[in-house]
Amino acid sequence: MVKLIIDTDPGIDDAMAIFYAVAAPDIELLGLTTIFGNVTTPMATRNALRLLEAAGLDAPVAQGAEAPLVLPPFTPSAHVHGAEGFGDIPAADPKAKPLEEDAADFLCRMAREHKGELVVCPVGPLTNIALAMQRDPDFIENVKSIVIMGGSLEEGGNITPHAEANIYHDPHAADVVCSGGDKVVFVGLDVTHRILCVPEDFAAIAARSPRLGGMLQEMSHFYIKFYLEVAGLNGCSLHDPAAVIACTHPELFGKRQLPLRVSCEGETSGATLAAEDSGRAPVNVCMTVEADAVKNLFLERLALLP
Ligand code: BDR
Ligand code: CA
Repeated sequence: MVKLIIDTDPGIDDAMAIFYAVAAPDIELLGLTTIFGNVTTPMATRNALRLLEAAGLDAPVAQGAEAPLVLPPFTPSAHVHGAEGFGDIPAADPKAKPLEEDAADFLCRMAREHKGELVVCPVGPLTNIALAMQRDPDFIENVKSIVIMGGSLEEGGNITPHAEANIYHDPHAADVVCSGGDKVVFVGLDVTHRILCVPEDFAAIAARSPRLGGMLQEMSHFYIKFYLEVAGLNGCSLHDPAAVIACTHPELFGKRQLPLRVSCEGETSGATLAAEDSGRAPVNVCMTVEADAVKNLFLERLALLP
């Protein structure tokens, strides 16, 4: 059983990843922490609480940073995930409230309390993770691993020609996390672009899981419309679910070990770059994936939900 915290900016594929984690029999979801990116941080908190409420899971949500470490705050990507984060689904207010503790403190505490067992899966910009590393020098030692949806080594970017969106939105934080060594795993565009879900897949999920799968299918229309406009694809990449699946099924991903840094300025800002001469310890970057196996896990396990 993997003890998991997802750090998230929900977000359509974030919602897919969170429902997947709720459904997975080998994941104990210990909580969610929230971050800006697809939406603002307060909206991410509201959406995270709403997803847990819909799924009937009583797990804590800790709100994270509202702005990047160094860059000024930016306007969220409403054209990708919709003005409220879930495509055309209107906003709704959940009953539950977030913790008083902020995301970085919650992550540090949970890593201490579950020393050697906690897997952190960030699927948004890495600000909260960098803050946790800065606040607690033992954070990296205490976690089991940090499995990140982010970056691109050879695939090119999705928000600029060089950068993947989560890294681009806080490159300084991502660069801090790159110093974390061999517990850090990047599940970036090199692999997530290989895993595509088409409208028929979401229809199949909704048929087997009418309430929660149906909610994902409704969101997916907006997301797939964006993919069609920008990439001419009638389907979407399973970015965030792939990172969650990498937490329980690492054998489905082929990794390259190398020291990594993040460009923090100019037109390459947000690019993840090999840094052989940096003196940094190597991190793991996923370069190959058994895409059908990942997609099957996604489809089969979501179908377990009501
Ligand atoms: C990442 O950016 C966000 O739009 C998605 O939720 C995912 O985490 C993909 O680049
Ligand atoms: Ca995300």
